[in-house]
Amino acid sequence: MASLHGKSIVLGISGGIAAYKSAELTRLLAKAGAEVRVCMTQGAQAFMTPLTLQALSGNPVHTSLLDPAAEAGMGHIELARWADLILIAPASADLLARLSSGMADDLLSTLCLASAAPLALAPAMNQQMWKHAATQANIRTLQARAALILGPAQGEQACGDVGPGRMLEPAELLAAVEAHFSPSQPLQGVQVLVTAGPTREALDPVRFLSNRSSGKMGYAVAAAAHALGARVTLVSGPVSLAVPAGVEYVAVESAQQMLEAARTHAGMADMFIATAAVADYTPETTADHKIKKSSDTLTLVLTRTTDILATLRAEQPELFCVGFAAETQNLLEYARDKLRRKRIHMIAANLVADGRAFDQDHNALEVVWADGATTLPEMSKQALARALMTLVVAQFGRWKASREART
Ligand code: CTP
Repeated sequence: MASLHGKSIVLGISGGIAAYKSAELTRLLAKAGAEVRVCMTQGAQAFMTPLTLQALSGNPVHTSLLDPAAEAGMGHIELARWADLILIAPASADLLARLSSGMADDLLSTLCLASAAPLALAPAMNQQMWKHAATQANIRTLQARAALILGPAQGEQACGDVGPGRMLEPAELLAAVEAHFSPSQPLQGVQVLVTAGPTREALDPVRFLSNRSSGKMGYAVAAAAHALGARVTLVSGPVSLAVPAGVEYVAVESAQQMLEAARTHAGMADMFIATAAVADYTPETTADHKIKKSSDTLTLVLTRTTDILATLRAEQPELFCVGFAAETQNLLEYARDKLRRKRIHMIAANLVADGRAFDQDHNALEVVWADGATTLPEMSKQALARALMTLVVAQFGRWKASREART
């Protein structure tokens, strides 16, 4: 059966040179079985005629909020209720700004406001406009309201610039829409162990050494792995986050406790994702009683903790291991070095200088594996975790296939 059979999709088109690709997108959506109703902004009509899209979708094209004839057909509220998904491609910088501020000054923005349907946006604009703080803030606002942001892609632009801002290709957008309606579960049957959060290394009964990790990234990774069908065990240091639904949870405090819990659960695991900011050093001794201030200086003697990731990797050759690296400089160089030293399969590196990453809701990652690397640009940690897991699933699949080929 056609993959989108029975799905009602409003395809919004805003003004931009990428609007010419929306004709092909309309054709692909209709071919996949979807009922498509196109809604064009005034700007879009400067790039593409409604007649073309009417022919391709087989339905009248909606262009105006205040058109009595159109309202007598399928009115805008009816259209907003009809949609299973509103996909806007291309989504211009102007449209993103209007949507993020909740405006309803034309038909498309009104539809978005009047609809409870999920919203998917395929941004397309000049790379400088995409990078502008205003656009990035709008994207974050829309993501926080659960809009699905598809792209943009990097590359050469119509204006001659090179950078992020190209609309994804129609086939890529079709694949994203198909995935939206039938989320695949490529990790079904796979057991994933995730470590997250900071550890606390006790100095005495009331004091400890710790770090700024909030656990947000690790919890988002656990949720993303679960959404892909994995059985997930989350071994977490102390954080103030809700445990993701459906995830097995093990609370620990110290690096030693995290090691022991991870070891216990790694036996059953196929994959280990080490997001925890484990203390590298712990006090040589923990005082039984509160340390009193008796001198002007206090010297602490610290000893190295066990590297959980490297240990489990060495103990369990069958475990696919993904590490994290937090660096303040030379991000890629240090990440590649860590990948080799710990002999792990993938590493996700982020810059933590100047208040970035730790305890923030957004982050960006450089993801590196033996024969490849990719940049995941700044986005919410939830979106980042999903994007990271897509890469992890791909590399895990390759790794499994090459192991099976060897045996
Ligand atoms: N890690 C671990 N156990 C430790 C320390 C780190 O499992 N005792 C894991 C982290 O969860 C993360 C990765 O190893 O996935 C981080 O590597 P690490 O070399 O410890 O990073 P840094 O502390 O940044 O190392 P360096 O001081 O070498 O920069």
